[in-house]
Amino acid sequence: MIKGKFITIDGVEGAGKSTHIKFICDYFNKKGINLLLTREPGGTDIGEKIRELLLNPEIKTIDNDTELLLMFAARNEHLKNKILPALNRGEWVLSDRFVDASYAYQGGGRGISDSRIDILSNWTLKDFCPDLTLLLDIPATESIKRVSAKNKDRIELEQIYFFENVRAHYIKRAKQFPDRIKLIDSTKSIEQTKKNIKNILSNYVF
Ligand SMILES: Nc1ncnc2c1ncn2[C@@H]1O[C@H](COP(=O)(O)OP(=O)(O)OP(=O)(O)O)[C@@H](O)[C@H]1O
Ligand SMILES: [Mg+2]
Repeated sequence: MIKGKFITIDGVEGAGKSTHIKFICDYFNKKGINLLLTREPGGTDIGEKIRELLLNPEIKTIDNDTELLLMFAARNEHLKNKILPALNRGEWVLSDRFVDASYAYQGGGRGISDSRIDILSNWTLKDFCPDLTLLLDIPATESIKRVSAKNKDRIELEQIYFFENVRAHYIKRAKQFPDRIKLIDSTKSIEQTKKNIKNILSNYVF
């Protein structure tokens, strides 16, 4: 029996996930709820090793299906050895990215069909899904601007049309699952975006 709640934050690079995670943790801490913070790809020993492989900019060729399978291998480990045990203990978990990212990046970005991704999702997650997903939305041009200063990982090195397709697939997911996925305009100031997140959290019935 799952006793805790599972919240995910998602969106393209530079959308503000890392920026707002601390705010979300503080929001719940004030209510006496401690959030276990984790991330994808990664979150476990094996998952972090897979992350290193997936994001290594020196690796120039990975078949799209291999990328997808590695994402789901990491996610399977993450779910079974970290997320579910924590939720079963009654803890709340916040993950920086989760399954929606596979539909956006491997689906929208790489062009793998939703129905193909569904196969792996049904296999590994079954009917498990986040209680709430905060989807921070910015256009690809803004994403590229915000991450241009740092050393880019393998996926961040992709071109603008890739991120436009990723963003479009995130928005499509939000329309498909409007009760779970809350789309947040993250082109607004950080302060305004925090207010919008707070508004969603305070109105959300967990
Ligand atoms: N609303 C905003 N307005 C302007 N700049 C922002 C806003 N939100 C975040 N930023 C800036 O954009 C940059 C990237 O933000 P952040 O690292 O939070 O994104 P991220 O979604 O975690 O990206 P990644 O997927 O690469 O981890 C940071 O320098 C951050 O200060
Ligand atoms: Mg981040």
